[in-house]
Amino acid sequence: MRLVPATVLAICLGMSSSAQATSPAEKMLELDRPLVIAHRGYPTVAPENSIVGFRLANLAGADLVELDYHVDRDGEGIVIHDKTLDRTTDVTAAWGETDAKVVEKSRAEMQTLDAGTWYDPMFAGVRLPTLEEAIDAIQEGGMTLVERKAGSAEHIVALLKERDLVNEVIVQSFDWEYVTAVHEMLPEQVLGAIGPSRVWNGKKLSKKERELSREWIDEAAKTGARVLVWNAQVTPETISYAHDKGFKLYIYTINELEPAKRLLEAGVDGVITNNTAILWKAMASVHGAD
Ligand code: G3P
Ligand code: CA
Repeated sequence: MRLVPATVLAICLGMSSSAQATSPAEKMLELDRPLVIAHRGYPTVAPENSIVGFRLANLAGADLVELDYHVDRDGEGIVIHDKTLDRTTDVTAAWGETDAKVVEKSRAEMQTLDAGTWYDPMFAGVRLPTLEEAIDAIQEGGMTLVERKAGSAEHIVALLKERDLVNEVIVQSFDWEYVTAVHEMLPEQVLGAIGPSRVWNGKKLSKKERELSREWIDEAAKTGARVLVWNAQVTPETISYAHDKGFKLYIYTINELEPAKRLLEAGVDGVITNNTAILWKAMASVHGAD
């Protein structure tokens, strides 16, 4: 019997050859152990969301290196966690401004600021990276977990396409409308839905309401995300339900050995940490060092 080549079969079934291929992001989802995910780079040893921190996280062997981005006044991506420049730059000393908003400045202006001295004077001169610079630095030795804090779905979809980054990275957000919109424009892209929101449908949620639940998981499933990203308010039952619904479950932000071990033993698929080294120790303890 003559076997039909897989590509011919895929065409007959209406699948494109790219849909058939397994991308780096999909392979990352299928790794046979939980992921070590470096939160904002490596803030235990270097300024958060800095190129030096991203490189150190790669050197420490993180499977994914997370960054946060906002957009500037021209809609260009800039890598910073807060919507203001105050906490992680010298904006007040340099410009005499407080509550200086990222969205009101240009990237060029913001890149004149010192984003390292606040953390430690040895990092004086570190600059805020553009989104493109940060992704390039991480992709040189690892894979980026891009967290959108502000910016449109159109913006990230265009950037991923222009730079051939579709499924070379994973994209996540607390804003599930954004996740849904990216999924609609780019269904193949692996996406993460982060929770819990502090507010849902205009209502401020209690701590109890923010625990991972079947309702949250069902709601997240509507976004098209394949990864659910939650805090440590999870139970064996909700971990199992998330898996039943086809999600990978990553937990943030775990910086101590014992909580990390407990979560790995409970069966989560990734742990997001400020301390990549301690996560590897937890991994070795639970999954062995081979
Ligand atoms: O990856 C999830 C985590 O980064 C969300 O919290 O505030 O550190 O961005 P935050
Ligand atoms: Ca983040």
